[in-house]
Parts: sequence; C-alpha cells; structure tokens
Amino acid sequence: MSKHADTARVTIPALRARKGGDKIVCLTAYTAPMAALLDPHADLLLVGDSVGMVVHGLPNTVGVTLDMMILHGQAVMRGAARALVVVDMPFGSYEAGPATAYAAAVRVMQATGCQAIKLEACAGIGETTAFLTERGIPVMGHVGLRPQASLVEGGFRAKGRTEAERARVIEEARSMDAAGAFAIVVEGVAGDLASEVTQAVAVPTIGIGASPECDGQILVTDDMLGLFERTPRFVRRYADLRGTITAAVAAYAADVRAGSFPAAAEQYSFGPKR
Ligand code: KIV
Repeated sequence: MSKHADTARVTIPALRARKGGDKIVCLTAYTAPMAALLDPHADLLLVGDSVGMVVHGLPNTVGVTLDMMILHGQAVMRGAARALVVVDMPFGSYEAGPATAYAAAVRVMQATGCQAIKLEACAGIGETTAFLTERGIPVMGHVGLRPQASLVEGGFRAKGRTEAERARVIEEARSMDAAGAFAIVVEGVAGDLASEVTQAVAVPTIGIGASPECDGQILVTDDMLGLFERTPRFVRRYADLRGTITAAVAAYAADVRAGSFPAAAEQYSFGPKR
C-alpha cells in the first residue's frame, strides 16, 4: 500500500472536469523510482500492461498477468504522491463478463491502492464498465488500437481505415462513456477520427498516436526517453537515454578493465593508512 496520504492527489472528478479545458498530462510508469520522477509533472500515471513488453521483454501484452500488474501497481503507488494512478487490467482478467471483471478489479484496487483501472474495449464492454462503475470502481476506457487484440489482428494496426472500423471506435467510446467511464484512451487512429471521438463523448479523451485535439496525451515513458532503438512514428523523443546509458556503461567497463575504478576516494578506509 502507498506510503503517501491521498490528500494532494488528483481526483477522478477533478480529472473528469478537465474535458475541453487544460490538457491532461499522462505517462506510463512501472517502478517506484520512475513514478517519483514523473509524479510532479504528470496528472495521471498509467501502470500499463505495456510493462510486459517494456520491462519483461514479452512480444506483446497477452502474456501479462494480474499478479504482474499488482506488483508494478504497488511499486508505482509507493513512488507517486499526487498523480492519479490507473492500473491496466490485463488480457484474460475481464473479458469473460462483469462478475469476473469486478472480482479482478477489486483485487487490483485493494492490493495496490490505485485510484482506477483501465479496460480495453471488447465484446460487452458497456455492460462490464457499467457493472464496475455502479459498484464504486473508477474505469478508464481504451478504444482504437487495442494492443490486447494484437494476435487476432496480426500486429499493432492503426484503426479507422474503413467506415466500419470508424463506426466501431466511436460506438465503443460512446458505450464506455454512457456506462460511466471517467476518461477514454484513444490509441492509433487518424486525427479526424480522434476529434470525432473527442466530440462524441462527455469525458476527457487521452490520445496516443491520435490527435492534439484529444483532451490529454499519453506516451510510454521509455519510448519518449529514447530507451529503445525503434521509435514509433507517433512518439516524440525527449531524450536519448539509450545513448547516455551505453556511453556510461562503456566508460565503466573501460575503467574496471584498466584498474582505475575504484579510486582511493571510492574505497572505505577505517584506520591509519598502511
Ligand atoms: O499499456 C499501456 O501502456 C497503454 C498505453 C499505451 C495507453 O495502454
């Protein structure tokens, strides 16, 4: 459970009220030290199931479990004092129906102390979202590109190329909005569709690979910090941590091999020098 009192934390109603107002700043977080670094700058930290790919080296998010999400959710809650913390419900934990989703969501919320959970749109998502929100569980929706569907869809494909796809994205967003979701992530859609979704729902939309007209933006933190060789088109790199880390580790390795590390000042010394 978090070491922080929740007095200074961004609340669900406060975030929801930002629809059409000040842009909402969101980032992913998976660990306590990174959450502490991001917390002063972000309104919302998402413990995304992207943790499976970013931290655990999985090929997609399908292998992520409830236990993994709980462990990372607990870590982020220890690091974040003010941002609203949302934990992703992983593949297989909510799609079977409202009762299964409710039991899994209660487990996540009680074990982590997070403020909300996130659900990717799937069959019956309106009913499941309503079941949870009516029972006190704040839900963030996720429409458009749905990473948990990557196996069925043969990869991570942007959505909205056909009228049917566009209609489905708008319908899923509307149904989660009507069911009480407090915000909706819109991923991997063209700008005009993201704008249409933003206008179609009463709650804030949070874009990723979407449009600046969304009410807020989210990026995978490790992407925007430049930790990976490949940068997706929709990511702006704000740092080159991969380059920084590579140079630092190469310098350390050279110092160890040369015998110049540790130096005298980097060693313990308890008595008179011999
Ligand atoms: O898992 C995740 O990090 C996400 C964001 C990309 C929105 O769902």
